[in-house]
Amino acid sequence: MRAQHLAAALALVLLACGAAGEDILIKGGTVVNADRQFQADVLIRGGLIARVGPNLQAERQGTRTLSAAGRLVMPGGIDPHTHLSMPFMGQVTCDDFFSGHAAALAGGTTMHVDFALPVDHDLLAGWDAWQRKAADGVMDYGFHMAVTSWSDKVAADMGTLTKMGVNSFKFFMAYKGALMVNDEQLLQALRRCKELGAVPQVHAENGDAVAEGQARVFAAGITGPEGHALSRPAALEGEATARAIRLAQFVGAPLYVVHVMSRDAAEEVARARQRGQRVVGETVASAIACDESSMWDADFTRAAAFVMSPPIRSKEHQAALQGALAGGLLQLVGTDHAVFNSSQKAAGRHDFRIIPNGVNGLEERLHVVWTELVASGKLAPTDFVRVTSTAAAHIFNVYPRKGLIAKGSDADVIIFDPALEHTLRAAAHHSALDTNIYEGYKARGKVLTTISRGRLVWHEGRLNITRGSGRFVPTPTHGPLYAGLDAVPEHSLFDVARYGGVPVRRAGDAPASGAARDEL
Ligand code: URP
Ligand code: ZN
Ligand code: ZN
Repeated sequence: MRAQHLAAALALVLLACGAAGEDILIKGGTVVNADRQFQADVLIRGGLIARVGPNLQAERQGTRTLSAAGRLVMPGGIDPHTHLSMPFMGQVTCDDFFSGHAAALAGGTTMHVDFALPVDHDLLAGWDAWQRKAADGVMDYGFHMAVTSWSDKVAADMGTLTKMGVNSFKFFMAYKGALMVNDEQLLQALRRCKELGAVPQVHAENGDAVAEGQARVFAAGITGPEGHALSRPAALEGEATARAIRLAQFVGAPLYVVHVMSRDAAEEVARARQRGQRVVGETVASAIACDESSMWDADFTRAAAFVMSPPIRSKEHQAALQGALAGGLLQLVGTDHAVFNSSQKAAGRHDFRIIPNGVNGLEERLHVVWTELVASGKLAPTDFVRVTSTAAAHIFNVYPRKGLIAKGSDADVIIFDPALEHTLRAAAHHSALDTNIYEGYKARGKVLTTISRGRLVWHEGRLNITRGSGRFVPTPTHGPLYAGLDAVPEHSLFDVARYGGVPVRRAGDAPASGAARDEL
């Protein structure tokens, strides 16, 4: 090879190493995957996991060795539900893709799926806008796309987006007059998702009843944040959850219910799964760790920080949601990280209806889930990995690239010390938010190290990140939620077979063509 070719090849290798990080050898830890935990070392090279096994040795000079003795080595978290730089209720969420990613990595989350919103109902314009926002990012991300209207163009654009790597679409059954779709639109959208092999997701609250409830509570003189919880009770979440599930059943589509906040909604998800429907229930960190009493705080700033939809509910709901996760009735925990600073929340100082909805959690999620569910004995560490990482990787069809520590998977890895206790505080977090709903929360277990695509991005309390180093991870259609779904006849609700399998022909009817039956 001529000298300049050799130099060029070397430069390429160096570039590749730089982009993908150094070799890292994690020694002496307990590897925890969703299916089992075992003692093993982990060697990382070129952004991927190169080996997992006992007594591994560094294979190259300059390999960085990290001791994980007494610690757990787990797949980085995947947050399936975030809203970075999202315009909403007259404000824009204050974490962008840089500060949001910084927060995520400091908390052990190495991939998230953000909800892109259409611009003026235009999905492709929304895609463009979110691409631009994400250019500042520093970690892996995917996109869901919200569908806020219905037309042939929307249906066509959904198809285009699936080719670009979006495999999930969210429908808001609340936020009347803004993002909400009606049942007719939802039905058509569910059918389109089924055609595309995409995951339909619903924000399940009865938007009409919420609007009425808000007007009644406000008219009764309750104007503060507590009015938010009072005006949209769990029954309205349960109703919409049941309705969406039944519409999905009618169409023969799977369904993903985002931010399950109540026992009512969790029970509907569980009932559907029990009868064999493909329904996934996602709850969020705030739902399992916080309760509605905070919205009654005399300090408006503190109370408003807890305003999100569906609302954070009573301790009874909190316990029911923890139980549903422990019992496998709900499948995963996201955050719905949608943060507004106290000055932004103050827009609703005299009217809870205009407090921008959303809470933090991207940085806190793993600590909260571990503390609430594993440290309390409800979940095993393997279950922790499943609900915080592997389940999302499966559902959004990026497993085993994500959500697993095994040879060939992306090197998204955390080192976790289950014995370390620490306190969550706004003053110490990495989000741009000036409050924290977990202020003073005593967390058990701590993410010591985060490795993102082979790069050591969080270690010894310090972030090492480069603006613009984030990467879009396409999520392919026809994931596990669709596997084998064809076996369910689309019109299984029409029990024509019971009466002979053909429509009744009566005197004066047109000759039988078979078309009527095919139509059914
Ligand atoms: O309050 C919330 N959940 N804000 C973000 C938008 C949504 O509904 O997910
Ligand atoms: Zn929502
Ligand atoms: Zn959300």
